[in-house]
Amino acid sequence: MKAVIRPATSGDVVLQSLAPACAWEGTGALQAELCSPASLDPEFFSSHPGVAVAVVAGDGGKVGSVAAYLEQPGQAVIYERWVTGPPQCWRLAFDKLLGELRRLNVRVVRAGTTRPVLRNWYERELGMSVWRELVRYERDLGGSHPSHDRRRGPAAIRPAVLERDRGALEAIWRAAPDHPSITALEDLARLFPARFAVADLHGAVCGYCFSYVENGVGCLKSVIVAPAKRGRGIGRQLVADAVAWFDELRVPSFLNTEVGNPVTHGLYTSFGYRRAGSFVVLERSL
Ligand SMILES: CC(C)(COP(=O)(O)OP(=O)(O)OC[C@H]1O[C@@H](n2cnc3c(N)ncnc32)[C@H](O)[C@@H]1OP(=O)(O)O)[C@@H](O)C(=O)NCCC(=O)NCCS
Repeated sequence: MKAVIRPATSGDVVLQSLAPACAWEGTGALQAELCSPASLDPEFFSSHPGVAVAVVAGDGGKVGSVAAYLEQPGQAVIYERWVTGPPQCWRLAFDKLLGELRRLNVRVVRAGTTRPVLRNWYERELGMSVWRELVRYERDLGGSHPSHDRRRGPAAIRPAVLERDRGALEAIWRAAPDHPSITALEDLARLFPARFAVADLHGAVCGYCFSYVENGVGCLKSVIVAPAKRGRGIGRQLVADAVAWFDELRVPSFLNTEVGNPVTHGLYTSFGYRRAGSFVVLERSL
């Protein structure tokens, strides 16, 4: 059996991958095999333990790969979807991946997507259900919302010094535990250019904001202010600092925030962010 290289068509949409340049045509002789996650992304998988599966055709051609990384003991996140073949390729790849995760005692697997078609596929074919639904906001480069003058406020915004600030940061994070943990943010900071800013109010850390840039796009990953200090302009100072950083680097940026969070809409739109669809995180137990 030979791989046929052809342009992707609209019928392939469910199969679209991050590298959708080719699609597999044919019916049999496909096999899912474990492969090295580092072959997909050496940098990422050097700091995240993970599992990867390649779908290989009878003639040895690689049809695509899927991978998951272990976020914490018992919990995995689907990392990439590069399967470019027909639906049975996807099933083959994911069945193998989920089987391997089960073998590693993973109990919960999650996957995030902005694409409705992929969400449907995860729900229908993998039996996943929505764990969290987030709104995506995007901001173009520059624009008519100068941010630098919005940094004034009651707190001093300074870089986090983790050896010293870790306890305070973890206490603040515990007020919003759905956000990535401090350790998860440190992992991201090892992989990408990042800005970890804290709000220092008279010597006490009362909030933080973590942003990073990947492939020329900024992500405002997490901003939290200690509950007792909210409503005084500190969240705005932290967001202003992140936005000023994106502007300095001349990158557009995005963020995902909880549907129905009453605070964030006004906050982000005032910096020129606009709603751009939703980001859904699905999960299933194994
Ligand atoms: C979001 C958060 C960081 C805001 O911090 P904050 O210090 O309270 O925010 P600020 O006082 O600077 O207010 C900034 C803007 O938020 C909005 N806002 C603040 N409190 C609000 C409220 N109770 N209701 C509606 N909007 C509100 C306003 O637009 C405000 O702008 P204004 O200064 O023009 O009034 C804080 O509420 C928080 O930590 N929430 C939990 C974690 C979270 O949801 N993070 C964001 C998700 S990505």
